[in-house]
Amino acid sequence: MRNVTLPEHNTGLAETGPLANSGLAGQDIVSAVLGKPSPHESAIGHVSGSARYVDDMIEPANCLHAAVIRSSIAAGQITRLDLTAVSNSPGVATVMTVEELTGHVDIGPVFPGDPIMTSSEVKFFGQCIAVVAATTELAARRAAQRAIVEYETHTPLLDPREALAQARLVRPSHRMIKGNIADGMAAAAHILEAEQAVGGQEHFYLEGQVSLALPGEDGGMLVYTSSQHPSEVQKLVAEVLDVPLNRITVDMRRMGGGFGGKESQAGQWACLAALLAAKTGRAVKMRLPRQDDMVMTGKRHPFANRYRIGIDSQGQILAADIEVIGNCGNSPDLSDAIVDRAMFHADNSYYLPHAVIDGHRAFTHQVSHTAYRGFGGPQGMMIIERAMDDIARTVGQDPLTIRKLNLYGTSTHNPDRTVTPYHQQVEHNSLPEMIEQLEHSSDYWARRTEIHQWNQASPILRRGLALTPVKFGISFTLQHLNQAGALIHIYTDGSIQVNHGGTEMGQGLHTKVGQIVAQTLGVSSEVIQVTATRTDKVPNTSPTAASSGTDLNGKAAQNAALTLKQRLTGFLAAEKSVAEEAIRFADGRVFWGETDTDNTSFAELVQAAYVGRISLSATGYYRTPKIHYDRSSASGRPFFYFANGAAVAEVVIDTLTGEYKVCRVDILHDVGRSINPAIDRGQIEGGFIQGMGWLTTEELVWHNDGRLLSNSPATYKIPAIGDTPPVFNVSLYEQANNEATVYNSKAVGEPPFMLAISVWSALRDAISSLSNYQLSPDLDTPATPERVLKAVMAIQTDMLDKAVANGEDC
Ligand code: MTE
Ligand code: MOS
Repeated sequence: MRNVTLPEHNTGLAETGPLANSGLAGQDIVSAVLGKPSPHESAIGHVSGSARYVDDMIEPANCLHAAVIRSSIAAGQITRLDLTAVSNSPGVATVMTVEELTGHVDIGPVFPGDPIMTSSEVKFFGQCIAVVAATTELAARRAAQRAIVEYETHTPLLDPREALAQARLVRPSHRMIKGNIADGMAAAAHILEAEQAVGGQEHFYLEGQVSLALPGEDGGMLVYTSSQHPSEVQKLVAEVLDVPLNRITVDMRRMGGGFGGKESQAGQWACLAALLAAKTGRAVKMRLPRQDDMVMTGKRHPFANRYRIGIDSQGQILAADIEVIGNCGNSPDLSDAIVDRAMFHADNSYYLPHAVIDGHRAFTHQVSHTAYRGFGGPQGMMIIERAMDDIARTVGQDPLTIRKLNLYGTSTHNPDRTVTPYHQQVEHNSLPEMIEQLEHSSDYWARRTEIHQWNQASPILRRGLALTPVKFGISFTLQHLNQAGALIHIYTDGSIQVNHGGTEMGQGLHTKVGQIVAQTLGVSSEVIQVTATRTDKVPNTSPTAASSGTDLNGKAAQNAALTLKQRLTGFLAAEKSVAEEAIRFADGRVFWGETDTDNTSFAELVQAAYVGRISLSATGYYRTPKIHYDRSSASGRPFFYFANGAAVAEVVIDTLTGEYKVCRVDILHDVGRSINPAIDRGQIEGGFIQGMGWLTTEELVWHNDGRLLSNSPATYKIPAIGDTPPVFNVSLYEQANNEATVYNSKAVGEPPFMLAISVWSALRDAISSLSNYQLSPDLDTPATPERVLKAVMAIQTDMLDKAVANGEDC
């Protein structure tokens, strides 16, 4: 037995369990690093202020600061642009418009449609018209205000349903079909229909968009940026400067939050900084002030959804006709994939025997909406979760009973109910078991009874309870993005530097990748430094998104580490004349024989290998197996696996004011075998609270002229620490992933966000209690107190009308 601690849950898995084909089988799986709740690698830096962000970097000599001149209308034509006063403003080095650009002007990430600046047509309020660089940030901002811009103003199109009616789309519509809904509807005991508006969301990363560009030789540029996608920033900067990609290097150490908002939309600010830097030959920093950031960058897509669902008398779905309309704003950006993901999740965890799912990408005169944790998945799930509650009221059952009745089957229970509307088989469905566990641990049924009784005696305050599940598909739905690279250097003192294609935004990716490499080489995490993500170390990387950061980069780094381990093993085996199989790496030492003295420190081995002329640097690469999707037939296996979770939320509402509180939340979330339970727990808690903010207090308000009114923290309410539920029980459901992911873990970044749908459902439950659970209220999101009050009053009016119709005495 090696001198290491064996985490309890590791026992036996390596030999017989799913780890057998994970690449880790038999390789020091029992070392002490993986599965440990070690703190985030920058935890101390985050709280002490020593973790450096782009804006903390020491500025190069003569650094300039940039500010943007933005449109003050949402739709129209620029008729006059006079920047003389801007140029003459104190401290100004240069002013730039689109006219003088010689390289690419369109910086659309996937499809064209995003001009870096405009001097002609305006498509949204806050669109970039010109950019100015000056000696200080204040000088740049003052100068920007002196621009004279005149417009011919048009009426903006702001309603996605209206856009669809006018066939104004940023991308063609898409449809998924399974079976024949007419058959299902014909057999239905009830057919239900509803519309549901789902609000967008401001990312509210603590660190805003920022880039610092340093001009180099031969048209080169070094760009420090806060981006989830350094390779795309590299490409876009190269294109606007009209130089090959090999002249541009992008460096990204960490973001102060990204949440999807820096997946595509960090590019523009990096490009503008680079253009100004190339023009002036000076370093240029571009950091958006908070209000510019809120106005000029895209948000989570608001959606307008609709369903028509046929059920049997028990409440089981027979056929579902679902339509989701994403409000994409003025350009495609990532909307094609986002609306697809909404469609992929319009079933959530439920089996739809016959289904048609339509997804539309509506054009509006808004900023181009973009990725946000869940990437459309949450907006899609909302429609089917709404339907679950509506079905329950129709057939007079508890919503949990209806949800369980409609769940996907397992290999032993309803195995014929496992095919999704996109024809992927749901395998290893853990939800029925998870829900059962959570029902017990949260005491759902006893609390349900107690709440019923309490509500009957409480005319003003009403309590509500809901359990909602999550099934979230893991993989980029664009197949080629599911690849990653890593580069590991071992230095002669035995210290290790790891670089990989993923970016750190607070989610703990570097901590996990560091643990994986430490585990593979049998060393402690302390000797490992995960460095800034750089396009000159690992090229052609995918964005860190779709929750797949660890799945992809962890595997790539593991592969690089295995290569190095193999080289060191070969070297040592030859030196000691032993078989390679006899060599083991553990605890920062390397063992080659039976006796305790037959070992050396990892650092000594490295030193000897260096002298023995062994390369101590290696790359690693990984691509996700099994996945494929044919969009023309809307079928395939877009997801390597699903991450599951379930949450129970309890709320109390005040029916006189619409105010409410979330009293208790119980979560059971599936993380596979956790690489780091502390980080996973942080993602679950943070994701849930962020989701709760989306569905409750975070309201984007656009004026009917297309201006964003909720453009600062004063008018846009994100959850504060005081909004955390007073009882917040979070448990990890730790079952090895059946697929061969690294350590058989599961992605955790986005899925817990959607657990917050339980809060919204509990609010509807509380409101429905006013009808003795006969009526199902409309409750668009965010469910602000105003909307809750409106829903309460609508239910009270309906009840009154019913009573009058029945000739009751009220
Ligand atoms: N957690 C923190 N602290 N900050 C973030 O910006 N982004 C989320 C999630 N968790 C985010 C976060 C989003 S949108 C995604 S896709 C994943 O992290 C990305 O990282 P991962 O793939 O390494 O999980
Ligand atoms: Mo996350 S929305 O996939 O960046």
